[in-house]
Amino acid sequence: MESNRENFASNLTAILALAGSAIGLGNIWRFPYMVGEYGGAAFIIVYLAFSLLISLPIMLSESIIGRRSRSNTFGALRKLSKGRTWSSLSLLTVLSPLIILSFYSVVGGWSIEYLFKAFGGAFVNADPDNVRAQFAAFTSHPFLPLVFHTGFLLLCAIIVILGVKSGIEKFNKVTMPLLFCLIVSMAIYSLSLPGARAGVDYLLKPDFSLLTPKALASALGQSFFSLSLGVGTVLTYSSYISPKENILVSGVGTTVFDLLFALIAGFAVMPAVFAAGIEPGAGPALIFETVPFIFCKMGSAAPWISSVVAILFFAAICFAALSSAISMFEVGVAYLVEEKGLSRRKSVVCIFLGVWALGALCAYFPRLFSLCDTLTSNYLMMFGALLFVVFAGWVMKKEDVLSEFSSDGRYPLNRKLSGVFYFLLKWVAPIAVTLIFITNFLS
Ligand code: PFF
Repeated sequence: MESNRENFASNLTAILALAGSAIGLGNIWRFPYMVGEYGGAAFIIVYLAFSLLISLPIMLSESIIGRRSRSNTFGALRKLSKGRTWSSLSLLTVLSPLIILSFYSVVGGWSIEYLFKAFGGAFVNADPDNVRAQFAAFTSHPFLPLVFHTGFLLLCAIIVILGVKSGIEKFNKVTMPLLFCLIVSMAIYSLSLPGARAGVDYLLKPDFSLLTPKALASALGQSFFSLSLGVGTVLTYSSYISPKENILVSGVGTTVFDLLFALIAGFAVMPAVFAAGIEPGAGPALIFETVPFIFCKMGSAAPWISSVVAILFFAAICFAALSSAISMFEVGVAYLVEEKGLSRRKSVVCIFLGVWALGALCAYFPRLFSLCDTLTSNYLMMFGALLFVVFAGWVMKKEDVLSEFSSDGRYPLNRKLSGVFYFLLKWVAPIAVTLIFITNFLS
């Protein structure tokens, strides 16, 4: 089996794939809103600190486990530990990305539908009520959400069936740079609008009084969701990184890209929201109800600009959603191929059918949709993050962890730096995750 495993061609393509998983709807619909709500620059500082001190060590733990074992999530914990306890626990982390994928694919489907709408000029000169009505009509349509959910998941299946190199790597190599160009041009455009200043203030004005315990828990939760931690995507992708590459570079590179993208997305969305004189919202409403109204407003001045910007925006959303979705898909496929001996094609079909069915239910039952969302982001992701970090810090031998961290001595590390990293991994990250886990349970 080992010899059949594919590897990413280089560390750069590994970073693009990991960043593809990390950069997604979460960066666009949640981060900008949270920043504004929880204290602007003050929140950004906390988010940055959490990302570097807690999320990065967890990401590196997942990478170390994945690359050391060169296995899927379940196989990795089975290979690296004695007994079955750890690998049995890891089954939950095989399941959780598939639950996330089911509702994520529904939203991915909405974004494809909105890309079509943008091509058809649906937002030019529409008023806010009309935009909201379009969203309500679409989401309550008897079969359209199902059609687009199916289409989105089929696209993922095709990319994943092509394999790690010809599917996942190629897709991210093309779409990630494109996505960056799209979001940067959106930000430049958005910042140039009259009245954009209020959006910049909303994002950057520091207000430390808004940093409540809830804000702190949300910051860490968002950092996990944004970096796709605790669900085995980082572990699985890292198992395709060659032993010759430096995983410290891929971990730091991915974290920095994700952070940068979230900030640029903030500048692409909020200044335009304020320039259009509307209230910022969170969640899908920001993307599908608030932002389209900006295009309507632009449409009164120049319809073609409005259409082009809407197309660029929804194309960016589609790419961001697809690159995240394929990473979740791959976790399940790697498990079925390596643990159950199924062919890649059969594994893709099995995952497709299971995720499609749950997603179809989520498309029509909003309560199930939000139940899956809460279950995964508040509990399962935290559980997975805790599992991986405790495994790396307490089950694996310290020499093995540090040797993998330095890629078996190929990239010798400063002793102080590895000491700090190991301390964060063994103590700081598990304690922080446990605290947030408890906060989520109690609230
Ligand atoms: N990181 C993605 C986002 O910010 O939208 C969400 C995500 C992707 C969560 C992949 C979990 C995952 F396995």
